[in-house]
Amino acid sequence: MVNIPKGTKDVLPSEVYLWHRLEETARKTAEQFAFQEIRTPVFEYTELFARGVGDTSDIVNKEMYTFLDKGGRSVTLRPEGTAGVARAFIGNGLAGGAMPFKAYYLISAFRYERPQAGRLREFHQFGAELYGASGAYADAEIISLADSFLKNLGLKEVKLQINSIGCKTCRKEYHKALKEFFAPHLNEMCEDCKSRFDKNPMRILDCKEEGCKKITANAPRILDYLCEDCRAHFGEVRGLLDAAHIAYEVNPSIVRGLDYYSRTVFEFVSAAAGAQGTVLGGGRYDGLLETMGEKAVPAVGFAAGMERLLMVMAAENAPVPQDKGVACYLAGLDGASRTQAFLLAAELRKEGISCEVDLMERSLKAQFKYADKIGARYVAVVGESELKDRAAEVKDMKNSASERVKFAELAAYLKEKEN
Ligand code: HAM
Repeated sequence: MVNIPKGTKDVLPSEVYLWHRLEETARKTAEQFAFQEIRTPVFEYTELFARGVGDTSDIVNKEMYTFLDKGGRSVTLRPEGTAGVARAFIGNGLAGGAMPFKAYYLISAFRYERPQAGRLREFHQFGAELYGASGAYADAEIISLADSFLKNLGLKEVKLQINSIGCKTCRKEYHKALKEFFAPHLNEMCEDCKSRFDKNPMRILDCKEEGCKKITANAPRILDYLCEDCRAHFGEVRGLLDAAHIAYEVNPSIVRGLDYYSRTVFEFVSAAAGAQGTVLGGGRYDGLLETMGEKAVPAVGFAAGMERLLMVMAAENAPVPQDKGVACYLAGLDGASRTQAFLLAAELRKEGISCEVDLMERSLKAQFKYADKIGARYVAVVGESELKDRAAEVKDMKNSASERVKFAELAAYLKEKEN
């Protein structure tokens, strides 16, 4: 048998109700905030991510699933959703439409990472993006959407951390200060950080190597280098979160792993989400469209990792309603009654009732055993006398009580019981 690819997972029918809960909560929350769904392709031209996500990010440097298609074009399975939405926003002329533009997505994403708890090669995200608004209200709205989503899932122990990484202007000064600070330690740093030093020294703060982490502990902090505008913006975002009673902590070491961010960045973290701890991350990215050669449009967004959320939901014992099971199993005894059961099932389904019939031609005892296994709420038996009466013997599988119900009244009977 061929094995499942490393870093991927099957979602089995017995656990899919957990995914339904995540997806339904995501959709409902996004729609409460008046965001509409957007669907973009699973693969894009490689250049989109190289330019958008950024060539100093680990994602672009090491983790992309890139290949040449049969036409010799380099394409990449999306490692995240933001760049694709940006391309769709421009490509479909949405920048000329009503602002703000607000869209959410439920996607699979692909990164060639070393798999571990909460880190997969194919994973799933719920994300949201808001274009057109540069003020702090947009940042607060996006954070509030993320916060509501997690609360609607019943999570209580996930903590919000925020930071501002400034704009191009303040980052120039900050990069200078970082370089001065790191220069004497360059020999002790990992190879990645050595190349980050020249390309994007701020990324060194995100390094997970113990040696580098020790050095970065005393590095200068971006918050001390913010220009006046960025400082004011961050103050306003904080003020709005305070007013909305959304609890947060300022964590100056959040820099995020993608190149497109500016000003506000944030992460929701939980100890239950594997080694990384981040279940949801996002921020403002006012410069992304410019890096794609377009006119700048301010934007802010986030994405949550579904697999990590499932880990946190399990750790916090968040209540998850099971999917509704089969309402009625229709049992037959011989050819004629089985056919009648088969026809009754069609009638019930027309009335919106989920039901199942015997497809294995088993004994009545074996059919009851099976109905019990699949959690059928009722079993309607059709035998010789029932065929004559044009009625089924309906057994309530919870209390074993049974009643004879006319075929013609079976749908109404089951519906009434359901209420
Ligand atoms: P990100 O921080 O790279 O941001 O990913 C967001 C979330 O996706 C993470 O917090 C994590 O829960 C999940 N995630 C990332 N990589 C993996 C993995 N290998 N296995 C399992 N889960 C993973 C972004 O993707 C940005 N596009 C977010 C954003 C939207 N920023 C603005 N708009």
